[in-house]
Amino acid sequence: MKSTIIILSVLAAATAKNISKAEMENLEHWWSYGRSDPVYPSPEISGLGDWQFAYQRAREIVALMTNEEKTNLTFGSSGDTGCSGMISDVPDVDFPGLCLQDAGNGVRGTDMVNAYASGLHVGASWNRQLAYDRAVYMGAEFRHKGVNVLLGPVVGPIGRVATGGRNWEGFTNDPYLAGALVYETTKGIQENVIACTKHFIGNEQETNRNPSGTYNQSVSANIDDKTMHELYLWPFQDSVRAGLGSIMGSYNRVNNSYACKNSKVLNGLLKSELGFQGFVVSDWGGQHTGIASANAGLDMAMPSSTYWEEGLIEAVKNGTVDQSRLDDMATRIIAAWYKYARLDDPGFGMPVSLAEDHELVDARDPAAASTIFQGAVEGHVLVKNENALPLKKPKYISLFGYDGVSTDVNTVGGGFSFFSFDVKAIENKTLISGGGSGTNTPSYVDAPFNAFVAKAREDNTFLSWDFTSAEPVANPASDACIDFINAAASEGYDRPNLADKYSDKLVEAVASQCSNTIVVIHNAGIRLVDNWIEHENVTGVILAHLPGQDTGTSLIEVLYGNQSPSGRLPYTVAKKASDYGGLLWPTEPEGDLDLYFPQSNFTEGVYIDYKYFIQKNITPRYEFGYGLTYTTFDYSELEVDAITNQSYLPPDCTIEEGGAKSLWDIVATVKFTVTNTGDVAAAEVPQLYVGIPNGPPKVLRGFDKKLIHPGQSEEFVFELTRRDLSTWDVVAQNWGLQAGTYQFYVGRSVFDVPLTSALVFTN
Ligand SMILES: *[C@@H]1O[C@H](CO)[C@@H](O)[C@H](O)[C@H]1NC(C)=O
Ligand SMILES: *[C@@H]1O[C@H](CO)[C@@H](O)[C@H](O)[C@H]1NC(C)=O
Ligand SMILES: *[C@@H]1O[C@H](CO)[C@@H](O)[C@H](O)[C@H]1NC(C)=O
Ligand SMILES: *[C@@H]1O[C@H](CO)[C@@H](O)[C@H](O)[C@H]1NC(C)=O
Ligand SMILES: *[C@@H]1O[C@H](CO)[C@@H](O)[C@H](O)[C@H]1NC(C)=O
Ligand SMILES: *[C@@H]1O[C@H](CO)[C@@H](O)[C@H](O)[C@H]1NC(C)=O
Ligand SMILES: *[C@@H]1O[C@H](CO)[C@@H](O)[C@H](O)[C@H]1NC(C)=O
Ligand SMILES: *[C@@H]1O[C@H](CO)[C@@H](O)[C@H](O)[C@H]1NC(C)=O
Ligand SMILES: *[C@@H]1O[C@H](CO)[C@@H](O)[C@H](O)[C@H]1NC(C)=O
Repeated sequence: MKSTIIILSVLAAATAKNISKAEMENLEHWWSYGRSDPVYPSPEISGLGDWQFAYQRAREIVALMTNEEKTNLTFGSSGDTGCSGMISDVPDVDFPGLCLQDAGNGVRGTDMVNAYASGLHVGASWNRQLAYDRAVYMGAEFRHKGVNVLLGPVVGPIGRVATGGRNWEGFTNDPYLAGALVYETTKGIQENVIACTKHFIGNEQETNRNPSGTYNQSVSANIDDKTMHELYLWPFQDSVRAGLGSIMGSYNRVNNSYACKNSKVLNGLLKSELGFQGFVVSDWGGQHTGIASANAGLDMAMPSSTYWEEGLIEAVKNGTVDQSRLDDMATRIIAAWYKYARLDDPGFGMPVSLAEDHELVDARDPAAASTIFQGAVEGHVLVKNENALPLKKPKYISLFGYDGVSTDVNTVGGGFSFFSFDVKAIENKTLISGGGSGTNTPSYVDAPFNAFVAKAREDNTFLSWDFTSAEPVANPASDACIDFINAAASEGYDRPNLADKYSDKLVEAVASQCSNTIVVIHNAGIRLVDNWIEHENVTGVILAHLPGQDTGTSLIEVLYGNQSPSGRLPYTVAKKASDYGGLLWPTEPEGDLDLYFPQSNFTEGVYIDYKYFIQKNITPRYEFGYGLTYTTFDYSELEVDAITNQSYLPPDCTIEEGGAKSLWDIVATVKFTVTNTGDVAAAEVPQLYVGIPNGPPKVLRGFDKKLIHPGQSEEFVFELTRRDLSTWDVVAQNWGLQAGTYQFYVGRSVFDVPLTSALVFTN
């Protein structure tokens, strides 16, 4: 039914442009790849796991509601608050309504809140506990403002496209790492409010993400079933497993059918296979049809819905939407509210306009300060260090680069975003976040310059600075020259490059005069460094990501060695942009096809980022998992044990939240020891990569982070679940362990793996 609708609209568009019959047949050829199977009816919430109580309560409440009241729960109303989305109240059953608010890095559109490190920074930290703590404090701020639903975290995009404009909102382009961090983040947020993990699914580019004008329509992410499970769905699965209360349907199409009306995606993958108990809300403006979207599993449309406002009750009356579907939509919404976020006065702390006089609602908990600071510290990744760092009471430091200072920002006035939506290769200020709905107004910006001033006063260092010149003059007598550049990105745009010329020239200009040049890059995504990385005077480089408001002092913490750097790359830095091949740019419409919409064929399968580099035998500049510290670590005593020695385990396919119960059986353990053989304490992030038979040679399947003191050793134990060691079987429609030899690699990055072992699983 859905594909009929699509073909009809192609015909309509083609007729408007007078396309020949031959060209038309060519267009129809698209449907051969990426067509979505119908999955109906929409599974109802069943009270799995600890949803039982909320589910029962929700059923009782919904039973008291009229169809008009139920329908009112399913789409946003304008309301009189500053919430991104608002569900109106149902006074008869004492339901006060819901406030849904951006976004994943702090409360947007208001004051008296904190700006936390962005998703990518959390990814670079590789720290589960920190991810959890950040989410708890952030969720508390939302609750304090009267927000019921926090519109984050992001695991889609996962980062398929190197220049993707929203990759910084997510943690990493590795599904295992993203899954581990989104699990903690979901748990943490839902201590206080409902999380809304987004964007489900295949939202891997900003270019043509949504219809604009007559011609450009939403890109179709054409993803095969195996890739879907092993890569794109994986982290969403972890989030659902954590008890996820809501999920956001994405703008793009999946296999040519809009994600918000794709029954295979919503009814099939999410609500059947993963046993999702919460509600599905459309991305803002992502609903494109009424009845079809309700039947396909969409539960709530934002920010409003003429389709449902005008037609849903009628559709239930005439049977095109089943009464049970409307009841289920309402029950899912009420159950999530009941379980996680019952607030008396939704949206009370969200002023409609910050420019107007409004009550100050201070959502900031002083206890969050150390998590915000440590979160900022741990996302810094040191990638080059030739005796440049740590700094030790230098006499003379020269500071350069537009990114060192905070200039025109944080006038909270009427502006709802810290940065404008416009993407600039260079923002003339220090970058603490990307732009768009994922950003918010910080409490303050502790810019690098501010922090250097404070440190200089302490150490009696002489500071010289020039943050505006494109080719500044550097005193060659400086102990160190620090060059601040950035790589900005924003929702709504994919990035124009992975390294801009202005910033590269700035680095070269300083390096030509200063023999100890340290480059600090605040990067909202992959940033290439090869134009100058081998320059003899570039002695230190830090990929500093997006630290949030504590950016300056957290950088000082690492530069001066108060803490050894402990960040690791959550993506791969290539030597040149073309090394990313077909994954460098978003998919553009082809020829006359811009009449309709671009087809983005995910033909590379799971082979993105490091899996792609390994497959193509391309040596990157800095591989996934890489990052230096101020000490050295020795790895020893690897022991890999199978709990079973059979590829066939009778699986328990009972559906729990997150999928079949037996996916979480422990089937193997990996044990090893790491010793700090250097002179300073530092946290190490040991990583386990596994070569699964019939899979890529190496996939991340374990990591941890521990502080280890000089001369001390720590034992690490990783437990591997059935899912960790399985591949998706498209015929059986299940995960399966493989007969054959599994390779195990343990070490400091995907390439630096001093310990190896193997396990044989038999049939
Ligand atoms: C399509 O063709 C018809 C007649 O052949 C013509 O009247 C019309 O202007 C054409 N439309 C476009 C958009 O070229
Ligand atoms: C996507 O796949 C379809 C069907 O195989 C093909 O016709 C089309 O050219 C492909 N598009 C791109 C951009 O590769
Ligand atoms: C998309 O199409 C591919 C290829 O036919 C298929 O394997 C996959 O399951 C489809 N996915 C969805 C969500 O329809
Ligand atoms: C539905 O919501 C609208 C406002 O959005 C309100 O005017 C109307 O009274 C509500 N209907 C019911 C039955 O609550
Ligand atoms: C049922 O009602 C909906 C909403 O008004 C309408 O779009 C649809 O055409 C109707 N279907 C039938 C079979 O009457
Ligand atoms: C940054 O500042 C320089 C010099 O002050 C100016 O020429 C340039 O246009 C600014 N760039 C942006 C993106 O604002
Ligand atoms: C490195 O810095 C020194 C000044 O300390 C300068 O003389 C030299 O030319 C620089 N090297 C390069 C390759 O620019
Ligand atoms: C359509 O998208 C292409 C890029 O994919 C862009 O160059 C063009 O300006 C867009 N057209 C419209 C009308 O938005
Ligand atoms: C599993 O059994 C096979 C065949 O008996 C054997 O070769 C292999 O070493 C065993 N693997 C483990 C981990 O015990």
